[in-house]
Amino acid sequence: MIYLTRRERFSAAHRMFNPDLGDDENLELYGQCSNPGWHGHNYILYVTVKGDIDPELGYLINLKRLKDIIIEYVITPLDHRNINTQVPFTSGLLASTENIAVAIWNQLYEPVKKEGAELHSVKIAETENNFVEYLGD
Ligand code: NI
Repeated sequence: MIYLTRRERFSAAHRMFNPDLGDDENLELYGQCSNPGWHGHNYILYVTVKGDIDPELGYLINLKRLKDIIIEYVITPLDHRNINTQVPFTSGLLASTENIAVAIWNQLYEPVKKEGAELHSVKIAETENNFVEYLGD
């Protein structure tokens, strides 16, 4: 089994906000991340796929195809958008890095499978110090 990771980046706005709670409670729970005026992050996304090396081709997956899949299904819909309101696969979510990682996993799982590899993990760095990693269960 070989593992391969592709890194991509996107910049997006979000707000941590539970609509069942008032502004005060949200601010207490999420601090600055619940600022009603929104804020943004320069997210770094690491997508790891796994599988066997094709003995004839010498690789696990065509890297150009993997890049194109990530761009089409994740980066283009997310980049420079509002995660809470403008992205079909994250709109309505409580826009935590955890929930974004799961949503990205769901976007990528089938397209990666069609290329003959298996999605292993989706890792997101929201800041230099905070990472989230989702392995599918
Ligand atoms: Ni934030």
